[in-house]
Amino acid sequence: MDVDVRSEYSGEIFDLWDTYKKVVVEDLMFHAALSQEVECALRARFQGADFSLLDLGCGDAHVFAPILRRIPPARYKGVDLSDTALALAAENLKSLPCPVQLAHSDMLSALSGETTHDVIHSSFVLHHLATQEKAEFFRRASRALAPGGLLLLVDTMREEDETREDYLRHYFDWIEKDWAGLSRAEKDAVYEHISTSDFPEPLSLLERQAREAGLKRLAGDVPHRWHHLMRFERV
Ligand SMILES: C[S@@+](CC[C@H](N)C(=O)[O-])C[C@H]1O[C@@H](n2cnc3c(N)ncnc32)[C@H](O)[C@@H]1O
Repeated sequence: MDVDVRSEYSGEIFDLWDTYKKVVVEDLMFHAALSQEVECALRARFQGADFSLLDLGCGDAHVFAPILRRIPPARYKGVDLSDTALALAAENLKSLPCPVQLAHSDMLSALSGETTHDVIHSSFVLHHLATQEKAEFFRRASRALAPGGLLLLVDTMREEDETREDYLRHYFDWIEKDWAGLSRAEKDAVYEHISTSDFPEPLSLLERQAREAGLKRLAGDVPHRWHHLMRFERV
């Protein structure tokens, strides 16, 4: 399937950088719990073993860097469409005891070569793709996963019975009520960003796309409202 791969990210979260940083630091989107689950998944499979890791939409790697220092891969490659994010990631990852490669790339293009990876990780990025692009993501990720490898996918997902419009309404109601640390202007900027750039799917759709691509979902997802970690391995 031909997919029109973008080299620019139109919904530039890094225009909202200070706000996103606040969301992460105040743990409003459950980054702490989800990243702990990512660390457990890495330890369970790769503790004491060499593994290569591809991080799709690495952002500034602020959340992932401490985990990677505790369980370092043999090689880390991060890709993102934002040069601002990549410059911050370079700083945050500079103390990793392994080779670090950072590249300006779309997540689908980063999966199109012959290289395979023991871990493919992506956190809060997939929801930016259209539904058919997500199917293509799973096909490419399945091909790019080394035998015994893991796909770790952190993302927002809508409930099975929620339309996107329902999701947006519910998510914004929750932000309005619970994200007390954000100003009116910051919340409005977040709503604008999510309305134009976020296209979360129900978990069952992602699971089906993954299955059709030859990936098996592993148990262990603990949802934090709409925020999940899905784990996959090749069948
Ligand atoms: C919400 S941030 C998440 C950053 C980091 N992974 C985290 O969990 O904190 C989304 C990141 O994905 C990047 N991004 C969006 N669409 C992308 C795409 N199609 N390919 C690669 N990166 C993308 C953005 O530039 C941004 O850095």
